Amino acid sequence: MEKELVIVLDFGGQYNQLVARRVRECNVYCEIYSYRTDLSKIKEMNPKGIILTGGPNSCYEADSPTYTKELFELGIPVLGLCYGAQLMMHVLGGKVQKAPVREYGKTEVFVDRSSDLFEDVSETTVCWMSHFDYISQVAEGFRITAHTADCPVAAAENAEKGLYAIQFHPEVLHTQEGTKMLYNFVRGVCDCAGTWRMDSFVENAIREIREKVGDGKVLCALSGGVDSSVAAVMLSKAIGNQLTCVFVDHGLLRKDEGDEVEEVFGPNGNYELNFIRVNAQERYYKKLAGVTEPEQKRKIIGEEFIRVFEEEAKKIGAVDFLVQGTIYPDVVESGLGGESAVIKSHHNVGGLPDYVDFKEIIEPLRDLFKDEVRKAGLEMGIPEKLVFRQPFPGPGLGIRIVGEVTAEKVKIVQEADAIYREEIANAGLDKTIGQYFAALTNMRSVGVMGDERTYDYAVALRAVNTIDFMTAESAEIPFDVLQKVMSRIINEVKGVNRVFYDLTSKPPGTIEFE
Ligand code: XMP
Repeated sequence: MEKELVIVLDFGGQYNQLVARRVRECNVYCEIYSYRTDLSKIKEMNPKGIILTGGPNSCYEADSPTYTKELFELGIPVLGLCYGAQLMMHVLGGKVQKAPVREYGKTEVFVDRSSDLFEDVSETTVCWMSHFDYISQVAEGFRITAHTADCPVAAAENAEKGLYAIQFHPEVLHTQEGTKMLYNFVRGVCDCAGTWRMDSFVENAIREIREKVGDGKVLCALSGGVDSSVAAVMLSKAIGNQLTCVFVDHGLLRKDEGDEVEEVFGPNGNYELNFIRVNAQERYYKKLAGVTEPEQKRKIIGEEFIRVFEEEAKKIGAVDFLVQGTIYPDVVESGLGGESAVIKSHHNVGGLPDYVDFKEIIEPLRDLFKDEVRKAGLEMGIPEKLVFRQPFPGPGLGIRIVGEVTAEKVKIVQEADAIYREEIANAGLDKTIGQYFAALTNMRSVGVMGDERTYDYAVALRAVNTIDFMTAESAEIPFDVLQKVMSRIINEVKGVNRVFYDLTSKPPGTIEFE
């Protein structure tokens, strides 16, 4: 089956992954590439459409990101968004300059519904604007198809040539009919049939893995997180017990999590595979004793994982393939895809053990966004509880315990966190808050319990909403829920006599405590 492809040319804006995700929601496969990508490579990929993203620059300045005019002469529809729209005009002879009025935020846009892009869109529609430059004159052959009170060209097009420019951001949810506009572009203008679907992706992926692996042996490090779980199940469905999964319980998992992973993947679980659980808690606690510096803790946890994994791999002997749960944002963020300069190095704990004896790496989720990984998981019948698991950092509770990690502190934070999660779920907030957890501060304070003086730890509760984990805002939790959590933690968790609610946004804070 020929894969329909739309490419997103990344000019450094902050919503670029969102653009690709929205396109995929229209069942059209989409990849992100840097604006530095050669035209010849683009021609080779033969996309059905090209989308130019926003970006922080002014297109009329000498060293700003740009693209050759030929891009617009390929006969492939192009949609420019924000900076991409301005660039299209600039390159094709229109005029872009500093706007007399800078637009930012939700803005009423008046659209011409005769445009293919605005079919079925309301005549007055709320869109997300964020620009300091504006198109003061469209290029020859273009007609204006939308405007706002302050912006004479909110959209313009040369439909004959398949060129469309939009000043606002249809990819963000604040643009109420944005997905419809992107749908109109990829499914209408670009004429994509919409063949990108998770059920067929899963089917194809399983078949491809089977062909690739043959009767080879495959090793997978299973963390119990969404990505490695979905990858493992996919492999299991493809090759059954030619797959061995090693699950390292480092003693820094949430309450009962080790057993839950074993329930699903172990010998009494749902899948055909070899499951090895390594209970390495003591080893980790020993290594972490006396260590307080966050980065050092991360390093120790990562390195110890490699040691343990290597020991297990040695017992298994040579394998043909090693599975990695890499997903598409990892590819983009590590600079292989778009223009993104941010590399979250500390998020890939430890890296790969280079002395494990394998021939090749398999990355079955390399093309998927997180929500697609989840869909693939559901498609394969993985329990919802696992598929919608909270994001959990590789170093686990190690970075939710400020200061030294000890078995006693792990127990405290596990219990407090379990109560917090339970009450959040009871309040029906578990699907609406992005990430929430309890952390153990290193602060002890005086309290009174019964007739006794206590000198115990303070637990901090965190709850944030975030789109991309690069920025976050603290989530609103009703006071009575917080109060209940506080009261239960203090009554039920030994060693805690105080509970804080952390309101800090990111920046200046981070989501985790360390
Ligand atoms: P921060 O604390 O950097 O967290 O604001 C952003 C997101 O990344 C997760 N996180 C990590 N994940 N290894 C991981 O695998 C890490 O060392 C790590 N540190 C933070 C965090 O849970 C949040 O989702």
